Amino acid sequence: MFDSVLSAGVLGKALEKGLIEVKVHDLRDFTSDRHRQVDDRPFGGKPGMVLKPEPIFAAVEKVRIDLNASVYLLSPQGRKFDFRVAEELARSSQIILICGRYEGVDERVNKHLATDEISIGDYVLTGGEPAALVIIDAVSRLLPDVVGKMESVKQDSFFEGLFDYPQYTRPRDFRGMRVPEVLFSGDHKNIAQWRRKKSLEKTAKFRMDLLKEEGKLSPEDLRILDEIQREKEGKTNEPD
Ligand code: ADE
Repeated sequence: MFDSVLSAGVLGKALEKGLIEVKVHDLRDFTSDRHRQVDDRPFGGKPGMVLKPEPIFAAVEKVRIDLNASVYLLSPQGRKFDFRVAEELARSSQIILICGRYEGVDERVNKHLATDEISIGDYVLTGGEPAALVIIDAVSRLLPDVVGKMESVKQDSFFEGLFDYPQYTRPRDFRGMRVPEVLFSGDHKNIAQWRRKKSLEKTAKFRMDLLKEEGKLSPEDLRILDEIQREKEGKTNEPD
């Protein structure tokens, strides 16, 4: 599962260049019984199996290079992963991600080994592996030189806490769907204003919570949002 994702695209190149290093460990390699058992039945009764603490503690103790490395347990019950958590993780020299499986993980891992429990969203995956890949991807692209131009990372959605503005390329007219005229005006101030408006419009449509964060909106933004609201109420009819 990890090899296929990590060998392709931007991540594949970053690994090749040594900009990031990812090591995947099999918990079975840290068992001491004949059956290499990593899970067991839960105390107190309940269907399903729970991951045992010993292999997880042994694995983390073995792979930890940086004594300050944070250890994250991936589970649907954790702190929600977002761009801020990604930035926090990107500051560490080593992060250890524990992929949960089966019905759960012995709570002692959470209480005494993990620094934090992280969820990538409100849904249950069959295991933490896809979540680990999401985190590796989102964190890696914040590191120097992983994405060609840091400028493009800085212009991404969320870097400033707003969604991206829409982008267009050739052809100018595709099946009658036309690129907005303003982008050909050569008036950079006008274009910047249009882009800011579209960012605000999209963010307001799906994520009002992002706009409500303090200090994000300038008086000009508030004016634009007011204009968007009025347009929505049908008072103005601006195309696109
Ligand atoms: N493991 C199972 N579901 C998960 C989720 N939503 N996030 C992180 N790890 C998980």
